[in-house]
Amino acid sequence: MMAAIEQDFPSGPLSVLAELESWRKDVNRPTYHVHKWWATRLGSVFRAILIGALSEDSTDIWEAFYTPVSFPGKVILDPFMGAGTTLGEALKLGCTVVGSDINPVSTFQVQKALEPVDLYELQRAFEQVKRKVQPQIQYLYQTVDPDTGQVADILYCFWVMTVACPHCKERLRLFDTSIFAKHAYPKKVPAAQSVCFACGQINTTTYDAVNLRCSGCEREYNPQFGVTDGTKAICQHCQTAFRIAETVGATGHVPDYDLYALLIVMSGGRKKYIRASEIDKERYHQARILLQQHHGLLPTGAIEPGHNTNQILRYNYRAWRDLFNDRQLYCLSLLLQAILEEPERACRELLLLLFSSILEYNNLFCSYKGEGTGAVRPIFNHHIFKPERMALENTIWGITRGTTKSSGCFATFFESRVLRAIAYRQQPFELRAVGDGEKISGEKVYQLSHAPAASLVTDFDTLKAGKGKALLFCTDSSHLDLPDHSVDVVVTDPPYFDFVHYSELADFFYAWLRLGLHQTRAEFRAETTRHPQEVQQREANAFSTALGRVLQECTRVLKPDGLLIFSFHHSRNEGWEAVGQAIVAAHLGVVAAHPIKAEMAGASPKAQTDDPINYDAILVCKRQTAPVAVTLEAAIGTTLAKAKAKLHALTQDNPRSNLSYADRFVIMQSQALCTFSRHLGQLTDAWGEVVTLSRLLAATAQMVDAIAVHDDELTGEGAERVLV
Ligand SMILES: C[S@@+](CC[C@H](N)C(=O)[O-])C[C@H]1O[C@@H](n2cnc3c(N)ncnc32)[C@H](O)[C@@H]1O
Ligand SMILES: [Zn+2]
Ligand SMILES: [Zn+2]
Repeated sequence: MMAAIEQDFPSGPLSVLAELESWRKDVNRPTYHVHKWWATRLGSVFRAILIGALSEDSTDIWEAFYTPVSFPGKVILDPFMGAGTTLGEALKLGCTVVGSDINPVSTFQVQKALEPVDLYELQRAFEQVKRKVQPQIQYLYQTVDPDTGQVADILYCFWVMTVACPHCKERLRLFDTSIFAKHAYPKKVPAAQSVCFACGQINTTTYDAVNLRCSGCEREYNPQFGVTDGTKAICQHCQTAFRIAETVGATGHVPDYDLYALLIVMSGGRKKYIRASEIDKERYHQARILLQQHHGLLPTGAIEPGHNTNQILRYNYRAWRDLFNDRQLYCLSLLLQAILEEPERACRELLLLLFSSILEYNNLFCSYKGEGTGAVRPIFNHHIFKPERMALENTIWGITRGTTKSSGCFATFFESRVLRAIAYRQQPFELRAVGDGEKISGEKVYQLSHAPAASLVTDFDTLKAGKGKALLFCTDSSHLDLPDHSVDVVVTDPPYFDFVHYSELADFFYAWLRLGLHQTRAEFRAETTRHPQEVQQREANAFSTALGRVLQECTRVLKPDGLLIFSFHHSRNEGWEAVGQAIVAAHLGVVAAHPIKAEMAGASPKAQTDDPINYDAILVCKRQTAPVAVTLEAAIGTTLAKAKAKLHALTQDNPRSNLSYADRFVIMQSQALCTFSRHLGQLTDAWGEVVTLSRLLAATAQMVDAIAVHDDELTGEGAERVLV
């Protein structure tokens, strides 16, 4: 049987839907967003891939998408499961799932995402933790409102990095600008807050003001100015310019920070920015003393050199606990301890996952996004570790007053992440795009799916015996404990060459998670999640070999006519060659490639951000069959024609598709992989020489401009011209 996805794919309408989902992934697919994972893929895309792989070729995938289709008994494998998108979508379609990831932070979060939990028990466990720690934490985040003299709760504390000028030794506060708070949509709400560098007063101004008189010292200044200029600072006292990283590095300790402002919240929910006072410094000091006297759990792991960690090592961050201030460490440790005292395992572990998830929003690498949006910019906003000069301290437990809520805290995420994920599990839905042109919105469609939840088993025999629906491994997927020919379809999203360094980043969470899990889980015993078999090589050949090993293992466990489908994009030939070689090494061939909207915000390496890639290629692979002989000229011709057809279908169904050069490159090179597979070893040039993949990719890369779609090609005659 040929599957529907080998023939066609609803790239156009699905791309519209995928974009819609990507605006609020956490709301639209909450199951996979209780905890951070990097570069997670869109659930709707994976639903469509699975339907296309499991349905016969006569099926209209787009129609089936909104039909309650089900594929009981089918086994789906994801060897790079990340946050578990494939698994959740496959469970929704009634399949049995096997997932594997080398990183324990991934496997733990997928387990918690899928494992059923008693909601009543969970609420009870949450209330118990609240009783134990909320009053103590809240006390440490209270101040006195200078206008009323009343005790007020703090929403956020504003800190600035300080360093002594290397020339005159005066201590400098490294403000990038004096405006430390403005609305996320400043044109709508222009009010902004500026701190006076001379006297520390907080002045209310507008986001674009260039002149301001300080209400504290009467000085006039331009609030747009800061002390820093990129990687350098200019001393206000002696005017010397110096490099910040070097100067902080030379101190031999982690950067110092000064507390300069607070956002407080009054009883009705009204918020106010105030200057930090002695009371606040004293309260912070109390937390420091408490930490010194405290014998609770704190992370012990050291930060090892690496692609992502070298930068923070230059700032003298040596241990994972260094990324938090003392008050954060104390409160987090209290909270962790209370969670670990919970006797019921499923509740305890889910609260532990929630604890780990708020770490992202409760450390000194966070900054302020402003009101009118999720106010805290979390540490992994850029998928890197970037020391923050104007840092934001959040309040761990969090508060809710009227409509004002802290962003990224334990109590608020319990509702917006955990309870929302459980609600989705009970009543999963798909989005349907409604409206047209510029105004598209999503309408929820229920009753299409099974619950994305499953009892977990520990081996394949039990899974096959029907005693559970999901089998998860924390292992290198080049060796899976699965029999030959046991899997119907592999659907995955592999790590990309040169891209996110998962384990270096995941160690930030792991350092805390292992405090609660190392006794019960072998995969939490090591000090780090870095692993020699992780597919994350920066050198193309090494990446190709590592990916090839996992793909080979997938070929072994796949049924003879099973499909292996994965998403991929890259802006350079090198990436396509690496992935193509891995496919060949696994005795697979690409039988179809479809473009689809990708969700990539903030995650691209330098080379890709200049010309962003908005589209992934979905590569549909099967065991290699007998190749057909062809000349290079003919091969280029077919590749070009297929790429044009794909591009045209995409643009016609989705006028908003807005394809960049890089997107067209992705479409072209994915088709080149199809061509290469079909003629493996039988593709020859005019002199009879066998053409390598590298040569074919170099040739098709030259043709990318030939598949630009111009307006006149979108309709009528033009459209036919493109298709012939
Ligand atoms: C791109 S992510 C997957 C994201 C996922 N599709 C999602 O939507 O959440 C790739 C994953 O591969 C994992 N990985 C890397 N090398 C591996 C290996 N040898 N075996 C298993 N997993 C590996 C990484 O830990 C990472 O989670
Ligand atoms: Zn100086
Ligand atoms: Zn002043």
